Amino acid sequence: MEKFFIRGGIPLHGTVYISGAKNAAVALVAATILCDEPCTLENVPAISDITKCLDILRSMGAVVRMERDGVIYIDPRSINTTEVPYKQAVTMRASSYFLGTLLGKFHEAFVPMPGGCDLGDRPIDQHLKAFRALGATDKVVRGANYVKADKLIGNQIFFDMVTVGATMNAIFASVRAKGQTIIENAAKEPHIVDVANYLNSMGADIRGAGTDVIKIRGVEYLHGTTYATIPDQIEAGTYMVAAAATKGDVVIANVIPKHLESITVKLRKCGVNVEENDESVRVWVDKPLQNTTVKTQPHPGFPTDMQPQFSTLLTMAYGTSRVTEEIFNNRFRYAAELRKMGADISIEGGKVAIIQGVDHLSGAPVQATDLRAGAALVIAGLAADGMTEIGNIHFIQRGYERIDEKLQKLGADIKRVIVPENDSVEMSG
Ligand code: EPU
Repeated sequence: MEKFFIRGGIPLHGTVYISGAKNAAVALVAATILCDEPCTLENVPAISDITKCLDILRSMGAVVRMERDGVIYIDPRSINTTEVPYKQAVTMRASSYFLGTLLGKFHEAFVPMPGGCDLGDRPIDQHLKAFRALGATDKVVRGANYVKADKLIGNQIFFDMVTVGATMNAIFASVRAKGQTIIENAAKEPHIVDVANYLNSMGADIRGAGTDVIKIRGVEYLHGTTYATIPDQIEAGTYMVAAAATKGDVVIANVIPKHLESITVKLRKCGVNVEENDESVRVWVDKPLQNTTVKTQPHPGFPTDMQPQFSTLLTMAYGTSRVTEEIFNNRFRYAAELRKMGADISIEGGKVAIIQGVDHLSGAPVQATDLRAGAALVIAGLAADGMTEIGNIHFIQRGYERIDEKLQKLGADIKRVIVPENDSVEMSG
């Protein structure tokens, strides 16, 4: 078992380079199934969720080759099954993308129920609604979703809520369907636009990605392409908050500043300086942090995937802050861990955190409860007095490429240590 040991209290300084976006890259890898020729993906982050997606492709017969760091060649022509193996599917949300891509290409998919971070109930009813609109049927077989269609025909799809996953899957299932599909109330996240651009670079006809109406005219053939993943908005936001929490001065490079606007606005409200350049942002602090209110929203609103990190910053800001989680119904499990570090944070009705700023956090042994909660604890550890020991760091490695090395380059005292299993404290009750 691996843990992070962080000696906190050191302001971060220097430049950090942001990797390709996890939530774009997992979708791009799955989308490659739709292609009729080999593709090369660039700027793919080295994270465990990508390893699992690539393993799924290999297990289905695709040729997958790492050409060099971040560059992956995928030949989907040798795929010989429409069944996704249980082991990889159940640990990852992105496995649901294989439903849409296999259905779109082979008119059939068998995918074990997707896993992913435990953020509350995460149904896929809207994904299935989209498939049904295009002519597919679905049933649950042996704990897996089985979808099938004799043919897929374009249709109008209206989502009951804004959902990233279902928007992706509706695009995947309709990109080779007959005729036109119109997706309304579509998600507008940067990774939706990235996936549409990737498919269009293969010859797909997708218009309107990034707005709430996406129009897709089905095509019969998709040709090979080479495509670079966009930078990770959430990884960038995490380093922005880490710079602020440690009262440092950091240039976050290889980013699209426009994607970071909602985070930038909230940091400025807290008294943090943010300077936007063409492909980088500089974040530094020269005065005490102030409280603010945050409400998570679909893009372009404040991203739920930044909520734990930002709440952690607010535990060290003067006054009372209020953070409302509007996307998931159980995304404050990390609050109990922050309390162990001296944070004053209480949760009302599962959706609202009331945070009373304290002068400083103090290091403690804590456990990551999911990916972004883990990132939040890293930020807390970097800012806290003394030593923080973070367990369950495999969650963090799902989505942050070499986070310990990147932080070390910024001057942090963080070590990844292999700890024998029996050194962990058993909980009961
Ligand atoms: N929802 C439904 N029915 C559906 C689909 C979604 O009720 O059929 C609900 C969800 O339960 C949730 C809301 O709609 O309350 C939004 O869910 P969405 O579908 O947008 O989320 P997702 O596709 O499951 C992706 C990211 C998450 C990110 C959310 C929101 C990937 C692989 N995952 O999840 O990323 O939080 O969008 O932006 O792209 C993370 O990276 O840490 C992470 C959790």
